[in-house]
Amino acid sequence: MSSWTACTPRAVERIDAVAAGPEARFVAADLASLAAVRALAARLAAEGPLDVLVNNVGAMFADRQRTVDGIEASFAVNHLSPYLLTELLLEPLRAGAPSRIVNVTSGSVRVAKRSFEAVEPPGGYYGFHRYGRAKLANLAYTLDLTDRLRGTGVSVFAADPGGAATEMNDGTMRSSRIVSPGLRLLWPLVRRTFERATSGSASVAARSSILAASDASLDGRTGLVIGPDARPVAPFGPATDSRTAEAVLRLSRRLAPLVPA
Ligand SMILES: NC(=O)c1ccc[n+]([C@@H]2O[C@H](COP(=O)([O-])OP(=O)(O)OC[C@H]3O[C@@H](n4cnc5c(N)ncnc54)[C@H](OP(=O)(O)O)[C@@H]3O)[C@@H](O)[C@H]2O)c1
Repeated sequence: MSSWTACTPRAVERIDAVAAGPEARFVAADLASLAAVRALAARLAAEGPLDVLVNNVGAMFADRQRTVDGIEASFAVNHLSPYLLTELLLEPLRAGAPSRIVNVTSGSVRVAKRSFEAVEPPGGYYGFHRYGRAKLANLAYTLDLTDRLRGTGVSVFAADPGGAATEMNDGTMRSSRIVSPGLRLLWPLVRRTFERATSGSASVAARSSILAASDASLDGRTGLVIGPDARPVAPFGPATDSRTAEAVLRLSRRLAPLVPA
C-alpha cells in the first residue's frame, strides 16, 4: 500500500490558527502497517502522558486489498490499527488521566456480518459490508475497553459522524460492487440513500468526535456512543454482546500481539 508521508500538514496550520497552547505537529504514519503503528506508538509514548487519543482513521476499499502484513485492508485499517495503537498507548493515557479515547464509528455497522473467528468472513468481498464489519469490530472493542478502564480516569467514547462528502466516499460508493448482490438489485435506491447520507460537510460531521474528545459535559463519563447530532445515542445492540467483543479481542490479539513474536 502507499506511503502516507506525503500528506499535507494543512490541518496543522488550521489548528494553529485558532488554538491556544503548544504548536500542533504532524507525524506521518501508514496505519495500514502494524510496524508503522508500533513505531508511532513508541514515539508518542516516549513523549510522556497523553490526555486524548482520537482514532479517526478510516478507509473503504472497492476491491479486496491486503496490507504489507498480509491482512485484508478494511479490517487492518478500520479496526486492527486503531486497536493496536490504543493498546500500546494505554500507559501514557493512564498517566495523563483524566484522559479520553475516542474511536470514530459508522452507521455501516448495521450491514456487517457478525462473525469474527477469522479476518475474512465467509462469502464474497463487498467493500461497504467489510468496512461495516471492521467498524463493528472496533465498536465492540471500544465498548469492552470501557469496562476494562473503569476507575482509571481514562474515558472511552465512540463517535458517529453520521455522514459527510469526504475522500473516503469519493469513488468507492459509485459502484454497485461495493454492496452485496441482494442490495445491488436495489442499487439506484441504495445509491441515492448513500448520496443523501454522505452529502454533508466534514466540519459538521466532526462535531461528534470533537464533543467526545473535548467537551466538559462529558467529564467523568465513559462508555457513550456520541451520535451524529453530537448527543449520546444507544449503542448498536450487537456491539454490546460480550461474545462479539471476546471474538474480536481473540482475533485482534492473534493478528496484532502487543509484543511482536
Ligand atoms: N464520510 C462519511 O460519510 C463517514 C460516515 C461514517 C463514519 N465515517 C468515519 O469518519 C472517519 C473519517 O473519515 P472521512 O469520511 O473524513 O474520510 P477521509 O477524508 O478519507 O479521512 C480518512 C482519514 O483516514 C486516514 N487514513 C486512511 N488510510 C490511512 C492509512 N493507511 N494510514 C494513515 N492514515 C490513513 C486519512 O489520512 P490522509 O489524510 O493522509 O488521507 C484520513 O485522515 C473515518 O473513521 C470514517 O470511517 C465517515
